[in-house]
Amino acid sequence: MDRNVLITGASGNVAGGIIPQMVKKGVGVKAYVRDAAKGEKLKAKCVKGVEIVVGDFLDAAKLEAALQGMDAVISITPPSPEAAKQASVITQAAVRAGVRHIIRLSAIGASPDAPTDNGKLHYQTDAEIMESGIPYTILRPNFFMQNLLMSVPTLQSQGAMYWGMGEGAMGIIDVRDVADSLASLGIYGGHHGQIYVQTGPESLSFADMAEIIGEALGKPVKYNAIPVEAVGEAIRGFGMGEWFAQVMMDYSRAYARGWGDFLNGNVEAITDKPPRSFAQFVKEILAPAIKQPVLV
Ligand SMILES: NC(=O)c1ccc[n+]([C@@H]2O[C@H](COP(=O)([O-])OP(=O)(O)OC[C@H]3O[C@@H](n4cnc5c(N)ncnc54)[C@H](OP(=O)(O)O)[C@@H]3O)[C@@H](O)[C@H]2O)c1
Repeated sequence: MDRNVLITGASGNVAGGIIPQMVKKGVGVKAYVRDAAKGEKLKAKCVKGVEIVVGDFLDAAKLEAALQGMDAVISITPPSPEAAKQASVITQAAVRAGVRHIIRLSAIGASPDAPTDNGKLHYQTDAEIMESGIPYTILRPNFFMQNLLMSVPTLQSQGAMYWGMGEGAMGIIDVRDVADSLASLGIYGGHHGQIYVQTGPESLSFADMAEIIGEALGKPVKYNAIPVEAVGEAIRGFGMGEWFAQVMMDYSRAYARGWGDFLNGNVEAITDKPPRSFAQFVKEILAPAIKQPVLV
């Protein structure tokens, strides 16, 4: 396949599922990483077809040089107060380099009046991309199933998980379906001018999820709904900082009032496959992680 794609955030969770798929289909992949050692690991995983470019999101010259000759850029930045600034450098470098398609990983509810700062920053980026003059495709996924991996320690030690989303149901999505969608866009292009909000196949509350996890483990699992302030304390306790603590508290409030309680067919619209169920995620990823020996 005579197609070249640069992907940023290449050593991250989502990109990890995208790059091998693009390489397998013969796409020439440039992986933009900030850590050379992580780049080497990526290269080893993909065997061939990945060129590693080491640089910071804010290194405009490095990005512009790397983007020369690219058919598309898959723009991924992590959640942080710097995200819109970082993504802007990617977008503007793509404009200068004449890239023909920007594929952006945004987030559910990106809007100027989003309930979280993460959503507001994503909207700034999405708006800049829409105004860039480059054909674009933007994905706005719902809450990732893989976020539940944060609960593995308490699921192991207490058979319980603690979240601040009350009884709110959400159209939770497997990150592998987001990666499959981005990979498909990277490989085949198309879907220009589209913004896809994406969900999984079921809208579930944390109580529903606990039941499904319990069935897979063969023992009861309890969901303890905690106040949002406790969510903030936990995030600070993990050393993830005040901005992230606020964002997680704001997401908790929004999801608790049913903000994420909807479903759509926007995974299948891109991948031609139905999205993975929560039970499949539990069987293939969460339960094996819970069953691993606890490291002390
Ligand atoms: N979690 C959810 O439920 C959810 C739902 C919808 C949308 N999203 C969106 O998904 C995106 C996150 O994707 P992800 O999980 O793949 O992110 P991630 O795992 O945090 O990966 C971020 C990547 O960016 C790299 N990076 C960080 N700072 C950098 C810098 N200054 N210069 C160059 N590279 C840098 C990291 O490199 P290192 O490996 O070296 O750190 C890593 O490769 C966010 O935009 C989020 O809003 C998340």
